[in-house]
Amino acid sequence: MREQITFLGIETSCDETAAAVIRENKNGTADILSNVVSSQIAEHEKFGGVVPELAARAHLENIEFIIDKSLKDAKINLNEIDGIAATAGPGLIVCLTVGLNIGKSIAAFSKKPFIGVNHLEGHALSPGLENKIEFPYLLLLISGGHTQYLIVKDVNQYEQLGTTIDDALGEAFDKTAKMLNLGFPGGPNVEKFSKLGDKNYFKLPEPIINKAGCNLSFAGLKTAVLRESKKINGDEKMKYNLAASFQNTINKILFKKTKVAIEIFKEKTKKKEVRLIVAGGVAANKSIRENLSNLAKEMNCKTIYPDLKFCGDNAAMIAWAGIKRFNKDLIDKIDISAKSRWPLDSTAPYMKGPGLKLD
Ligand SMILES: Nc1ncnc2c1ncn2[C@@H]1O[C@H](COP(=O)(O)OP(=O)(O)OP(=O)(O)O)[C@@H](O)[C@H]1O
Ligand SMILES: [Mg+2]
Repeated sequence: MREQITFLGIETSCDETAAAVIRENKNGTADILSNVVSSQIAEHEKFGGVVPELAARAHLENIEFIIDKSLKDAKINLNEIDGIAATAGPGLIVCLTVGLNIGKSIAAFSKKPFIGVNHLEGHALSPGLENKIEFPYLLLLISGGHTQYLIVKDVNQYEQLGTTIDDALGEAFDKTAKMLNLGFPGGPNVEKFSKLGDKNYFKLPEPIINKAGCNLSFAGLKTAVLRESKKINGDEKMKYNLAASFQNTINKILFKKTKVAIEIFKEKTKKKEVRLIVAGGVAANKSIRENLSNLAKEMNCKTIYPDLKFCGDNAAMIAWAGIKRFNKDLIDKIDISAKSRWPLDSTAPYMKGPGLKLD
């Protein structure tokens, strides 16, 4: 195996156009040679959410410039790169296709290996950019589209322990922000305005808190926020109380469910030492970090969080997952296509829709 593998990573699965050049270093972590992210917040702000066609058009307009900038920032040319990784799913097909096609084209004309990365594997392995982490670890993946507890056994080997049966956590934050008129993007604004409110003011539901193992549900909580938001009639102070109470309820749910997940992890892996890794956009939330670190202290676990710049979507995590897969010879054919749905654990039951039995 060659030492110090260097990859170009490309990410266009949602509303961030991103490219990065990452090199594996001798410590087993990453040298970030460049990490360029162009966010489309301004494009989507007036609609209060991501509009797929607009996002795809913005990716198309920006992607060449972003890739070029990532190579220039890294002071590297394509000949010095060992491979190209681009997100192949899950996400919006019209968006994924932009990054995937340009990644495949670069790989084809430069005759380099190509890896189509699962965006969720990017998030799952992202703490490894800065920390040497041994497998297995317990991952809480909390992002805009996903909320899952997984045992990360190795690269490409995941066992899902629990997931949301309705909304993703980032989605719940975004919808709460929308209902309270706190602006887009929602998650960071809910966190910001929560600091101005009383977190114990509203008593909100904690759905399926005492059943269904470490599966989660946020729909009932969202409905309760909607109901209360109508009653407060735009009163500023009450809005902050509601945002703070929502975030506090999320923290109570995560505390309880993560405790259950840690117990299941211990039982399944027979490991006494647990590393709890929290990744994805919502992992940027400081009150959630504090809450889970308190739980970890209580349960004698170690917590690891990615740096804030690696929580939301970025291409550094895609290049890094590419390097990790390359080292295991998990190289893709150039005809790999984009996938809108792509679970990390393909054997996990589908937990949404009617007929779902929970106990
Ligand atoms: N400080 C924060 N507090 C709470 N939520 C946050 C915070 N910062 C970002 N988020 C949320 O994180 C989500 C974005 O994360 P990410 O970019 O990983 O999601 P995504 O890529 O859209 O979804 P997925 O990774 O599941 O495909 C948004 O829902 C956003 O509101
Ligand atoms: Mg993401």
